[in-house]
Amino acid sequence: LQRPRVLSGIQPTAGSFHLGNYLGAVRQWVALQESHDAFYMVVDLHAITVPQDPAELRSNTRIAAAQLLAAGLDPERCTLFVQSHVPEHAQLGWVMNCLTGFGEASRMTQFKDKSAKQGADRTSVGLFTYPILQIADILLYQAHQVPVGEDQRQHIELTRDLAERFNSRYGDTFTMPAPYILKETAKIYDLQDPSAKMSKSAASPKGLINLLDEPKVSAKKVKSAVTDTDTVIRYDAENKPGVSNLLTIYSTLTGLSIPELEQKYEGKMYGALKTDLAEVMVDFVTPFRDRTQEYLDDPETLDAILAKGAEKARAVAAETLATTYDRLGF
Ligand code: ADP
Ligand code: NA
Repeated sequence: LQRPRVLSGIQPTAGSFHLGNYLGAVRQWVALQESHDAFYMVVDLHAITVPQDPAELRSNTRIAAAQLLAAGLDPERCTLFVQSHVPEHAQLGWVMNCLTGFGEASRMTQFKDKSAKQGADRTSVGLFTYPILQIADILLYQAHQVPVGEDQRQHIELTRDLAERFNSRYGDTFTMPAPYILKETAKIYDLQDPSAKMSKSAASPKGLINLLDEPKVSAKKVKSAVTDTDTVIRYDAENKPGVSNLLTIYSTLTGLSIPELEQKYEGKMYGALKTDLAEVMVDFVTPFRDRTQEYLDDPETLDAILAKGAEKARAVAAETLATTYDRLGF
């Protein structure tokens, strides 16, 4: 019996992953490699939709791959690769660009948000069409499921529209992918502003846990997390977003359930929760950082892993592209 195929990617832009990336995405990728035929990539082609320094991009791509390995992705159990190593992404991307309506692309809300921040003259056409490259990323591997956050759901819907359009115009070519929305509990909020999701573009760096920072820096951020003026340690996302976020993080890092944690901290002060969570955080990030560094200190092994991953990915991608080109009349 064939396992369902999943495909997911992560940008290399920030260097260090943040806690939201890990708890909201990467941790689930590690679990999915056991049950699925999993393809995971570092999406460096997507990174150049905004200006990038070449040396930094090269370094950040390796750091991203090293972190994925440190998190537990096993190249024997999944296909781990760098997007630009597989030229078929750009090739199928062009085909998908020609299949997408301008109005259809204009309705992508993520683009509206991002370009509004940058201004029209500093926004590239690549940023505008990046969801279409994402569509090619997915269809190239005939993925059945795409693990994404809620914010990406719209892009998966467009992927389905385009797969359907191509298939009906040119004959059955692409597998219809379904979103695999990652658990709501895995949404992590900013430690200083728990109404905003934790993000690399956070307003205050104090609210953002970077996994590759010195562990004591992350411990300090946990200890100075914003809570509320109440004193009860209870999960209530609406009225107690700060405390609830800390409980979510604590629960996902330790495997203790929220009710178990509420019981453990009954009658205790916020300080006790923060001190313990700071320790949990240090225990998590310390080995994660060390393992990442080990991969970075051994560039030959890392290169070999990524080369082998690209070879495995290309075998699938080349077949899809060949069929696509044939159907198109090339
Ligand atoms: P950012 O929002 O910091 O720019 P990315 O867009 O690069 O992060 O996200 C990479 C992956 O991490 C995506 O799958 C996204 O859904 C997940 N992710 C990002 N931030 C969070 C968060 N705060 N909580 C849960 N998951 C997140
Ligand atoms: Na995002």
